Amino acid sequence: MRIIAAKTEKEVGLKAAELIAAQVTTKPDSVLGLATGSSPLTTYAQLAAWYESGDLDFSLVTSVNLDEYVGLPGTHEQSYRYFMNTNLFSKINIDPARTNVPSGTAKDLQAECRRYDQLIEDLGGIDLQLLGIGPNGHIGFNEPDDRFHKGTHIVTLTERTRQANARFFSSIDEVPTHAITMGIKPIMNAKQVVLIAIGKGKAQALCDMIQGPITPACPASILQLHRHCTVVADEEALSLLKRCSGAA
Ligand code: GLP
Repeated sequence: MRIIAAKTEKEVGLKAAELIAAQVTTKPDSVLGLATGSSPLTTYAQLAAWYESGDLDFSLVTSVNLDEYVGLPGTHEQSYRYFMNTNLFSKINIDPARTNVPSGTAKDLQAECRRYDQLIEDLGGIDLQLLGIGPNGHIGFNEPDDRFHKGTHIVTLTERTRQANARFFSSIDEVPTHAITMGIKPIMNAKQVVLIAIGKGKAQALCDMIQGPITPACPASILQLHRHCTVVADEEALSLLKRCSGAA
């Protein structure tokens, strides 16, 4: 696992965007696995800026997002579809028909899980998967559990995750209790993974992920086995890592 340390949130965005830009430049029809949350915001802003300046072209890119809240339609301001449209898709020249987010309002959610897995398979898998990390070590919405879930599945959100995400809603009661999330298999099969972590709230999760045992109790820890995983993080997020490794 490669670790890139950045000083500021903006620099985290720059470093992560550089990796994505390199991917899209060398393979214009890349399949990008995309993430939501506050962590990738500066990355998306940088990508949009490079598109604006004519340095990046997303016209042939396909995107597959990690997850969505169950019950929120794409028009809901806190849905991940809305987040992606607002923070990235509307700011670059990606073809909207080639942007994919699992549906949290499908009548048959199990069928939607199977459809999403098939979609990723039909695309030939993911070239670069962008990830954030939850304070409890979740990736996408793969919450701590007693096993790793391979495919797209419906998950009951932990109280900790609902609390962490409550800041985006007017009250905790409005935070959905369930989500649909891509499983571990397409993430591990992605040719490249870039994980972003910002702030001291992520320090313990990053430490467990990189230096702890590989266990579904910390879903991100499985990335220790990924062949091409880069962590882009600020000093606060890396602070505990330094202490437990004893490294400089
Ligand atoms: C959310 C998302 C994850 C995201 C994580 C961290 O619940 N499902 O994909 O990586 O939590 O979010 P943030 O970047 O806002 O801290």
